[in-house]
Amino acid sequence: MIGTGYVGLVSGACFSDFGHDVVCVDKDARKIELLHQNVMPIYEPGLAELVASNVQAGRLSFTTDLAEGVKGADAVFIAVGTPSRRGDGHADLSYVFAAAEEIVAALDGPAVIVTKSTVPVGTGDEVERIVERIAPDKGITVVSNPEFLREGAAIEDFKHPDRVVVGSEDERASEVMRGVYRPLSLNQSAPVMFTGRRTAELIKYAANAFLAVKITFINEIADLCEQVGADVQEVSRGIGMDNRIGRKFLNAGPGYGGSCFPKDTLALLKTADDAESPLRIVEATVQVNESRKRAMGRKVIKAMGGEVRGKTVAILGLTFKPNTDDMRDAPSIAIIQTLQDAGANVKAFDPEGVEQAKLVIKNVEFAASPYAAAEGADALVIVTEWDAFRALDLNRMKSLLNQPLLIDLRNIYPAAEAERAGLQLVGVGKPRQDSNG
Ligand code: UDX
Repeated sequence: MIGTGYVGLVSGACFSDFGHDVVCVDKDARKIELLHQNVMPIYEPGLAELVASNVQAGRLSFTTDLAEGVKGADAVFIAVGTPSRRGDGHADLSYVFAAAEEIVAALDGPAVIVTKSTVPVGTGDEVERIVERIAPDKGITVVSNPEFLREGAAIEDFKHPDRVVVGSEDERASEVMRGVYRPLSLNQSAPVMFTGRRTAELIKYAANAFLAVKITFINEIADLCEQVGADVQEVSRGIGMDNRIGRKFLNAGPGYGGSCFPKDTLALLKTADDAESPLRIVEATVQVNESRKRAMGRKVIKAMGGEVRGKTVAILGLTFKPNTDDMRDAPSIAIIQTLQDAGANVKAFDPEGVEQAKLVIKNVEFAASPYAAAEGADALVIVTEWDAFRALDLNRMKSLLNQPLLIDLRNIYPAAEAERAGLQLVGVGKPRQDSNG
């Protein structure tokens, strides 16, 4: 497994838990050193335990030496980063190609190179050209095997996926991949779908874009709900019970963030552009989501009476979603910026994200608890739905706040509960007069 980022480390740990022998390789010596001490470079529930037990069982090891790591491997997974290239949104594939070159040079016999990183259509062909150029006679094949795991639920998602997608142009390679995923088909939890390599590459982008569209659709419906006096949570429930639509990913909120949706939608648009086959729905989604984050900042300002200069806003939740320390493209960044631009002071609490948050937001006072954040604030804003925020003592909040205002951008509190505590509640897509954002 080349790359010990989110996907690489979780995949490596889970494959070893299936009983395979796994070597995780990373160029970052510090990361490997930490992994040797069972310190995880990312926050993911259950991961440290999974890594420890498989290291102990002798199935999982870590090294910085790629040549050593790939020796004798049946399959070598490329799980390095594919960040957005500065300027144009194209996926930056330099890490993928550099890894491929090293792998091909180092392999000592037939093996399958598997791209697990999210890579644009045609990348597998490029990797194959690298094989042809460096070592055409080693019997190396190239397949695509996109990963669909979510941060915060990564192990569960990896072990119980809805499906596994393998894009292969070679029967022997498909056989190796069947072997790799056999433990999953044994417990019948996941159908392994075999398809063409380019198709597999596109499936990953199409899936993420569709989910981004779904979220953005319900977010716009939420705005409409506020204008016409409807309740977006009920709308979600009402449409989600239709199996053709499905209940999931219909929670209105401050917009999607994270390491995948923003980057992958942009990369897909580039692919579409290059192919002169526009994806207008995805284009609109990207624009709507981008403007939504600042719009949520303005929603807070409006709820606070339109003037926030010198006022204090308490933010609960900074990461783009719960159970991660990931701040990449988190809506909290734009929301806080908008509030600060309008002259507000910001206090914030997040259970895991503060270290990462400090790198991307400035002039924020970090509090040690949700209550410490609320103390003396003129509004309390829930941005990320951490479990720890689901059962706050609202009476205590009321007594700590300077103004009894709760702005719940994830709709986790029912109106009646806030009302009982004497808090004015502003949600997203909620019908009450005072919730018009
Ligand atoms: C996503 C995909 O789900 C996963 O399959 C892919 O491999 C990587 O990208 P991830 O980014 O970890 O995973 O998180 P996810 O749970 O999908 O949430 C993404 C964003 O959408 C978050 O900001 C979340 O708050 C937001 N979201 C999600 C909503 O606003 N509403 C929803 O109903 C669901």
